[in-house]
Amino acid sequence: MRRVLFVLLGLLGDAASSERDFRVTGYNYKGQLGDGSYENKYLPELAWNESDVILASAGGYHTLFLTAGFGLYATGGNSFGQLGIGSLNTLNTSSPQLISNHLFVGALAAGAYNSFIITTGGKAYAWGRNDFGQLGDGTTIDRLSMVLVAENVAEVAPGDYFTLFRMSGNLEVYGVGRNYYGQLGDGSKSDHTSLTRVLTEGHSIVQVVAGSAHALLLTSAHRVLAFGRNDYGQLGDGTNDDVATPKQVMVEHNVTEVCAGAKHSLFRTGVLEGDLWLPQATYAVGADNFGQLGLDRTGQVEGPRGNMYPSHTVPVASMTDQVVVGLRAGQFHSAFLTEGNKVFMSGANTEGLHSVTTTTTAKTTTTTSTSISTTT
Ligand SMILES: *[C@@H]1O[C@H](CO)[C@@H](O)[C@H](O)[C@H]1NC(C)=O
Ligand SMILES: *[C@@H]1O[C@H](CO)[C@@H](O)[C@H](O)[C@H]1NC(C)=O
Ligand SMILES: *[C@@H]1O[C@H](CO)[C@@H](O)[C@H](O)[C@H]1NC(C)=O
Repeated sequence: MRRVLFVLLGLLGDAASSERDFRVTGYNYKGQLGDGSYENKYLPELAWNESDVILASAGGYHTLFLTAGFGLYATGGNSFGQLGIGSLNTLNTSSPQLISNHLFVGALAAGAYNSFIITTGGKAYAWGRNDFGQLGDGTTIDRLSMVLVAENVAEVAPGDYFTLFRMSGNLEVYGVGRNYYGQLGDGSKSDHTSLTRVLTEGHSIVQVVAGSAHALLLTSAHRVLAFGRNDYGQLGDGTNDDVATPKQVMVEHNVTEVCAGAKHSLFRTGVLEGDLWLPQATYAVGADNFGQLGLDRTGQVEGPRGNMYPSHTVPVASMTDQVVVGLRAGQFHSAFLTEGNKVFMSGANTEGLHSVTTTTTAKTTTTTSTSISTTT
């Protein structure tokens, strides 16, 4: 079972300025924070070469970093080759290792025990754990170095043992790997070692996210399709039944962002003003055993399995007085990015994450974009 308990906070200033500031907090057992130590961090601290990191993605026990000069680095655990350094001789490292400096990398996605990148030209490369074929290379062989797995890819979302790829041309989604709960969304529950099309007929998909074994798709019409494992009500359809054919949820709102934790889901809604979708509200559903939904428990709607696991989306009560502009989720925690570059967190705090909703005020700069990456 995946144990992901760390957070990377990135604040990107004007790309040319030196105002960028990259921070990490949480579990560091395998060196996944990349700060040269194996000590857990209880407050966000400056990460490795922080002034140079422009993208980062947190996996199960490892982290991918991209530097401004397209240096692709990995740090942390390497038990399945997820560092992409070509061997298993180094089982862990707290000093980021260079994987590549010749690819124009546009996106990073660290999975539980594997890693994906997408180049600016839409090529997806993968490495690491592949026991269910989740890398999408047509085999079930773990890869110690990157292999090209798909082209024309806009977005990749690794779940625990499955992966979803959103294609840039037709805005369709393909899945590969384990399908026991219907997490590939192809209407079956058979595993696939080559890409299978997710049943999204009639929809153009603009965002894909994966939890441990469930997935959410955002459509261009601001609707949400959900499928996969639903034991904690994480699909938000009001039941605990797994879904193999994507099902519309959150139909009463215009959704502008979806986010998946291990067994919980977050949604952000918006109101159209002119050409712009302005932030409206934040909703959550699924496992709340660590407070990861950020709810105010009084007066909460009961789900089929009681208060801990609402299966109908409920407003994130602790964020109703904030303008939330971004969502991230880890295994047992959630992060809410607000206007003014504040980050609020809720959920498990065992290794330095915030247990009650508290604020981390990120450094104030002339910032135009801010990113948080937490493990999923
Ligand atoms: C760290 O950042 C400095 C300054 O930007 C740069 O010269 C150096 O090459 C970077 N090191 C790595 C390992 O990326
Ligand atoms: C890290 O790697 C070292 C050397 O391979 C190994 O002895 C140690 O058990 C590893 N630690 C963890 C937490 O995996
Ligand atoms: C979604 O947004 C459209 C465009 O502003 C609006 O007409 C519609 O009523 C909204 N639907 C919901 C459910 O809020």
